[in-house]
Amino acid sequence: TSPPREQFTGQVGFILSAIGSAVGLGNIWRFPGVAYENGGGAFLVPYVIALLTAGIPILFLDYALGHRFRGGPPTVFRRVKKWLETLGWFQVMICFVIAIYYAAIIGWALSFFVYSFTLKWGDDTAGFFTGDYLQLSDVANGGSWFTLDFVPAVLIPLLLVWVATIAVLVGGVAKGIEKANVIFLPLLVIAFSVLVVRAIFLDGATDGLNALFTPDWSALGDMNVWIAAYGQIFFSLSVAFGIMITYSSYRKRRANLTSPGLVVAFSNSGFEMLAGIGVFAALGFLAHEQGVAVADLEGITGPILSFVTFPAVVSQMPAGPLFGALFFGSLAMAGFTSLISILQVVSAGFQEKFGLTRRKAVLWIGAVAAVLSVVGFSTTTGLIALDTIDNWSNNVGIVASAVLMCVFLVWLLRTSPELRYHLNAVSTVQVGRWWYVCVGVVVPAVLAYMLVSRIVDLVQNGYEGYDETYLLYAGWGTLVVLVVGAVLLTLPRWRRSPDDFVAWPY
Ligand code: PHE
Ligand code: NA
Repeated sequence: TSPPREQFTGQVGFILSAIGSAVGLGNIWRFPGVAYENGGGAFLVPYVIALLTAGIPILFLDYALGHRFRGGPPTVFRRVKKWLETLGWFQVMICFVIAIYYAAIIGWALSFFVYSFTLKWGDDTAGFFTGDYLQLSDVANGGSWFTLDFVPAVLIPLLLVWVATIAVLVGGVAKGIEKANVIFLPLLVIAFSVLVVRAIFLDGATDGLNALFTPDWSALGDMNVWIAAYGQIFFSLSVAFGIMITYSSYRKRRANLTSPGLVVAFSNSGFEMLAGIGVFAALGFLAHEQGVAVADLEGITGPILSFVTFPAVVSQMPAGPLFGALFFGSLAMAGFTSLISILQVVSAGFQEKFGLTRRKAVLWIGAVAAVLSVVGFSTTTGLIALDTIDNWSNNVGIVASAVLMCVFLVWLLRTSPELRYHLNAVSTVQVGRWWYVCVGVVVPAVLAYMLVSRIVDLVQNGYEGYDETYLLYAGWGTLVVLVVGAVLLTLPRWRRSPDDFVAWPY
């Protein structure tokens, strides 16, 4: 017989942890730029519609799966249908891959947190980031694309991130994960709010906010804007790749699911709005200092926003070091609470299938992930593999996983009524029949379209101008690794049978 399942201490711990997972780098460096480029203020229309018709319904689906079938994705999907176990491992593999590079970014944030105090990046912040800090070899001009030259300034914070993450997971759900979130999430909200308030009062901030929020209503007629909205919601809520399944499996048998789900979803979006305001106020200031229009600024999303553009902002403002510390501290905390949740999915999968203790699973998985992460991202070729792997696992892998999940559960196996009854049996806010339409029709249709158009685009146009051989390995190779890994992990025998499981009556 298996030991009793770990549990969050209660609803608050769960909600804070789920928000901690959802609020991540995507809120801070992805949302503001995506909104700006896709209609500004008008983007809020498709964004809210995507939240209501896809984000929240899939969040509920994840919660119902995890809570009813009580396990990580492989256990849950196997309990739904034996052959579906592979989909669970596919989600586990995605999480594993994401963890490997997510940790690297948190490590960079820690470095830049320290650099803030002395403005170590100097005037050429772009040169500093890729040259002095990451020391990337110049692949485009014949530099080798794999080296084992370690860069200590990148390596040391990265090791720190891994040690901290492993330590939290070894602590378990209540004493590790929940504790970390109870500490870091409020700290993050405070630090980031102070930053945003400071940013609003910078010279030029209003220009930045006008640039972000001025609506371009014509964007609503553009299919790509709608796709961008659905893409942002999926990534941002961390749905459809096992995280919310895993977290909700640690709730007590009688636990309200839907209202906490709404709290999590709206908190995440609230944080995105906050980040949009903070980031664009800061960009407005930068444009003001440089005497250019906000529209002419470059590097307004992703790593470049955080590690090139923001350092420039910090250097030019009064009390910059404090502002920089708040920004990079927030980035690190937001990333850390997400990384914890990603790695827990992997850990849970292995614990359950191979009958490992938590400690053993965490130490093994953490060690393997840490080694891959360190070899891949603290050597001189880090960034290139990172953006490519990220693009394929996030923009192709997660979307594929979501489509498959909906099609299998709603159409092939018809598990959705059971899941809805379960949600309604334990929750206060009831889920109506509209939910079937969202998870059965809207989500698969939108995502299938998105998936196909992305694949066609990648095949035809490549990615970021990298050469084809490189993309074959780093991009499509990532996908192959995910699928092969998922199949291989399905094959071994279960050490503890997942099948002698009787779901709770609803
Ligand atoms: N939801 C997170 C964000 O918005 C992203 C994330 C990705 C979280 C993968 C966990 C795992 O940044
Ligand atoms: Na998010």
